[in-house]
Order: sequence, then C-alpha cells, then structure tokens
Amino acid sequence: MIQLIRGFKDILPGEVELWQFIEKQTSSLFEDFGFRDIRIPIMERTELFSRSIGEETDIVEKEMYTFADRKGDLITLRPEATASIVRSYIQHRMYAVDQVQKLYTIGPMFRRERPQKGRYRQFYQIDAEVFGVSSPLIDAQIMFMLTTLFTRLSVSDCTAKINSLGCPNCRPAFTAGLSGLLSEKADFLCEDCSRRSTRNPLRVLDCKVPACREAMADAPSILDYLCTECRSHFDSVMRHLTIMGVSFELDRRLVRGLDYYTRTAFEIQTSLLGAQSAIAGGGRYDGLVKALGGPDIPAIGFAIGMDRLAEIAAQQHSDLCRKPKLFIAALGKISQTLAFEWVSRLAATGIHAEMDMSGRSLKSQMKQADRLGAQHVLISGDTEIENGQVLLRDMITKEQSPLPVQDIVEALRNRFA
Ligand code: HAM
Repeated sequence: MIQLIRGFKDILPGEVELWQFIEKQTSSLFEDFGFRDIRIPIMERTELFSRSIGEETDIVEKEMYTFADRKGDLITLRPEATASIVRSYIQHRMYAVDQVQKLYTIGPMFRRERPQKGRYRQFYQIDAEVFGVSSPLIDAQIMFMLTTLFTRLSVSDCTAKINSLGCPNCRPAFTAGLSGLLSEKADFLCEDCSRRSTRNPLRVLDCKVPACREAMADAPSILDYLCTECRSHFDSVMRHLTIMGVSFELDRRLVRGLDYYTRTAFEIQTSLLGAQSAIAGGGRYDGLVKALGGPDIPAIGFAIGMDRLAEIAAQQHSDLCRKPKLFIAALGKISQTLAFEWVSRLAATGIHAEMDMSGRSLKSQMKQADRLGAQHVLISGDTEIENGQVLLRDMITKEQSPLPVQDIVEALRNRFA
C-alpha cells in the first residue's frame, strides 16, 4: 500500500466544500476590491526564489524543493507566489498597460518544513499583490480587505500585528546598531543566528529559539531608526487602519521570514492553532520589481495560509456538503431506464438528482436517499409507470403526492430549479 508523502495531504470530499466556499468568498471579495485572478506555474527557476526571498532565509537555505531537471537546469517547486507574480508582471510588461495592477492567486506552495499541526510541506495560499501604488492608503486597504474576508468567514480570535521595516535609506543604520549587539551576544546565539548575524542581522529578531529571544530582549527597535518618509508612511497606514476600524497591535519585533520587505510588514495571528500562529502575512516590497530586472515600481501584498484558515473556519461552517434535490427510487427494469434518463436530463439542466443503479429494494433505496440528504424522493415502480403516475415524497413532512409521468422532467425542473 503506497501512502502519502510526509507533510502532504488529501483534501477529501466533505472537507473540500469548505475550501470551495473559502475560494468563492475570496474571489468575490477580492474582485470587488479590483483584484484580478492570475495563474502562475508551480515550478520556476531556482534563482527567482533565491534572489527574491533571500539567500540567508530559512526558506531558501533549508526548505525549498529544488532539483535539476533532465537537462540539468535547477528548478524549484514554488515556496510562495510573490516572486512568480513579480516575474510575470515584469515578463509580460503589465506595467506598460497600467502600472497599477491588482492580482490574486490561490494554489499550492511547497516548503520542506518539519510537519506538524498547521504546518505542511504542500500547503495552500491565497495570495494578493498590488503593483504601482506607493500611497499608504493601499497598505491600509489590503489589510482591511484581509480582515473583511476573515469576518465574512466568521473567523474571530485573530490579531493583526504590524511593524515598519524601513527602507534602504534608514535600515542600514539600524542593522549596523543591531550587528554591534549581535557580536556582543555571539556566544548566546543559535547556530543559524551566529551564521546570519553579519549578513542578515534582521533575521535574528525573528528567531524562535529561546536563547536567541533572551539575548535579543533589549535589542533596539527599527521604529526608532525610521527616516522621515518611512515614519510618515507608517503613521498614515496606522491612521487609515483606525479610520476603517481595523484593530491592530504594533509589534516592534516583527520582521517576517522573507528578505524583500520594505516599510509596512504585517501578520495576522491566531491563538487557535497552537505553535503555528500566523494565519496570514505580508507587507510592502518596493525594491523587488527593480531587483528582478523590471522598472522601479512599488508593490505590496500578502498571503493567507489556506490550510490554517480552513482549520479555523471549519468550526463555523460544518454543513456545507451539497445535497441532491431529488432521489429517484426506481423499482424494476423499465423504471430504472426512465430514472436514468430523468436524472441525467435534470443534471444537464442544473438540478442535482440521484438514483440507485443496482436495483436494490425500496427500503434500501429510501435509506440511501436519507443518507444523501435528499429532500424529496420520487418513488417509481414499473406498475406506477404503467399507470402513468409516480409518487413524490417529501422526506421532511413525509407527505406523498402523485405526479404524472408525462412531461415529468419539465414538471420536476419547474419545481426544483
Ligand atoms: P509567509 O509568511 O511565508 O509569506 O506565508 C504566508 C502564510 O502562509 C503564513 O502566514 C502561513 O499561514 C502560511 N504558511 C506558510 N508556510 C506554511 C506551511 N508550511 N504550512 C501551512 N501554512 C504555511 C509569504 O509567503 C509571502 N509571499 C506573503 C506576501 C505576499 N508578501 C507579500 N506578498
């Protein structure tokens, strides 16, 4: 028996309805905010991810599924969607039509992390990106859109954490100060942090190892180093979040696990998922389009962990399974052929009906109708057919009424459409 690969999972019928529901709510809301769907490939050249996410990040150092294809080219199963969407924006010169592009995508991502509840090696993201808007209004608007989605899905117990990571003008002074502290604390840092402390000191602020947390307890905050432009951008984001009634907490240590961020960075965290508290994360990445060979165009976005979202939303949406409107209990050869024809014709016109194709007893067919949750059963034996009338039974009230066989599909369509 061949089993699933560790960290991968099936999303089975019964669960999948919730995923479809989330997808529908997402696209309807995001499209009302002007976002358009984009589909990007599952694999890209490895270089795209290492250059955008950053060589010194956990994702690039340890978690990517990278392999050489048959010609020896290094390719990677996408660990996130932002880099691919940026590549696509540049490659198709979308900016030439309109710099401002609002794009979203939903799909699987791959990271070889240690699997546990809420953490998978294939997981799904709902990802949204906006290009060409430098105004802080968009930062506040996408966070408002994100929290509106959670509200629509009845997901509560979430906290938005927000920070600013500065820009290439003000961040170097902060990282220089941080590097000084890191060399003082070198003996207390974990292996990863010691290695990264010179090349990517921000990462240390994000480390979950308790010894590193303790060593960094008095670390300075980047907020004290922001330049005037970054400070006023950040103040404006917070002001507009308040105007829109989005509650948030300032988290001076939030740095995110990817290197492309500038200015606004945020995460939505929940207490409902144990160690995997981040349900969504994002921020501004004003330098990435240019760094990947495009024009100097600002951008911002976020991604929601859909597996985590579904786990939380499941408690609020337990009954999304689709039920047939009608079950046809056919008894006898002629009746079965007719039921087959009726069910097929009804389905073709948008009415979900079911039947039993193995010719079982009326009792077992009624049980099957019940199990499927059909609201009505059409009882149709060969004798009923001969008499030109079948019986329609309401499974809730238990009432039965006769229905002429002639033009029955039309009659059922009128009744159940
Ligand atoms: P990220 O924080 O790496 O950001 O991932 C976003 C979300 O994906 C996380 O908050 C989490 O809910 C979910 N996630 C990440 N790894 C796993 C995993 N192994 N299993 C289950 N869920 C997971 C990004 O990916 C950025 N691209 C977000 C972004 C878009 N920034 C700007 N635009």
